[in-house]
Amino acid sequence: MHITVFFAFLASLLLAVEAQRFVRFISTDKREYYGDAILPSGTKDAAKSTRARVIRGDILGDFTITREVKAIKKLLAPLPNERVRTVRCVGLNYVAHINETGQVIPQWPILFFKPWTALNTPSDPIPVTEGYQTQGNFTSKMDYETELVIVIKKKAFNISDEEALDHVLGYTVGHDVSHRGWQIDRGGLPQPQFSMGKGADGWAPWGPAIVSTSIIPDPQVLNIWTKVNGVTQQNSSTANMIFGVKHLVSFFSMGTTLLPGDVIFTGTPSGVNLGKVDPVWLTDGDVVEVGLENVGTCTNTIKYT
Ligand SMILES: *[C@@H]1O[C@H](CO)[C@@H](O)[C@H](O)[C@H]1NC(C)=O
Ligand SMILES: *[C@@H]1O[C@H](CO)[C@@H](O)[C@H](O)[C@H]1NC(C)=O
Ligand SMILES: *[C@@H]1O[C@H](CO)[C@@H](O)[C@H](O)[C@H]1NC(C)=O
Ligand SMILES: *[C@@H]1O[C@H](CO)[C@@H](O)[C@H](O)[C@H]1NC(C)=O
Repeated sequence: MHITVFFAFLASLLLAVEAQRFVRFISTDKREYYGDAILPSGTKDAAKSTRARVIRGDILGDFTITREVKAIKKLLAPLPNERVRTVRCVGLNYVAHINETGQVIPQWPILFFKPWTALNTPSDPIPVTEGYQTQGNFTSKMDYETELVIVIKKKAFNISDEEALDHVLGYTVGHDVSHRGWQIDRGGLPQPQFSMGKGADGWAPWGPAIVSTSIIPDPQVLNIWTKVNGVTQQNSSTANMIFGVKHLVSFFSMGTTLLPGDVIFTGTPSGVNLGKVDPVWLTDGDVVEVGLENVGTCTNTIKYT
């Protein structure tokens, strides 16, 4: 082999090992695979990938990225719901969002949980059952929230901020679908009902890929946005988080074990309907895109069921 060809070959091997945009997908043979998404040129949105290198083994344990390339027919959530044992979510983590909702800046991270049945793929509809629809004088106040999502790789208990990233597999984008009617109007006193307002089935789309910490060494510099029916409604940077990724992982591990596959939604920036003078609440047929730089987009349609 010619020496330059040899080095090009070596470089391609190294790249193959480095490039880790973990996806789970159905291929044209109707089978399900884990893979390392191959980005088409000109985009870093893994939702646009049409091919992936097949990964054998467990992305939360030992795995190998093979040279076998499969077509992506449909992207699934990066992990099956039941492998995500805990969905943690942070409330009030961006100053401008706290401001727009008239709250005060918290001294410690505000935590709530969603059941894992809330998880959804990066493209399927977000179902809205009758109890969450407008009825009589009860208005269905459905809102969008784009969030950076942390995926835990290694068990973490009582770890420091400095140790936190060793326990992280990577990052993805998530949609913390929020219903202000059940969160606040029907649960605002004595305190908001985060779980009733945010925990319904399919109300946590995530994906399109888990982008590894080697590709994103610093999660606090990423553009994050939401578009509703193609119009930008949120557009900020993860630099604006009050509590960053390292501190959230360490803080939540103080007395609670974080397990491989657990995810942490890290709070939303400003621009939500709740903070608007003239909110346009989401309704049947609205298309919501949440996006994160270097990761990609989830695009889901609100669907009354
Ligand atoms: C807080 O809200 C007020 C009024 O809505 C606005 O004028 C101000 O710029 C906001 N500050 C921040 C940091 O977002
Ligand atoms: C809304 O309707 C319910 C049941 O019809 C009624 O009990 C309640 O008082 C109404 N609330 C308001 C604010 O009108
Ligand atoms: C938590 O970590 C601190 C610092 O490493 C250590 O002093 C403490 O004993 C640990 N606590 C538990 C319950 O493991
Ligand atoms: C967000 O704002 C930046 C800077 O103004 C702009 O370049 C970018 O296109 C905006 N993103 C979206 C999704 O509107």
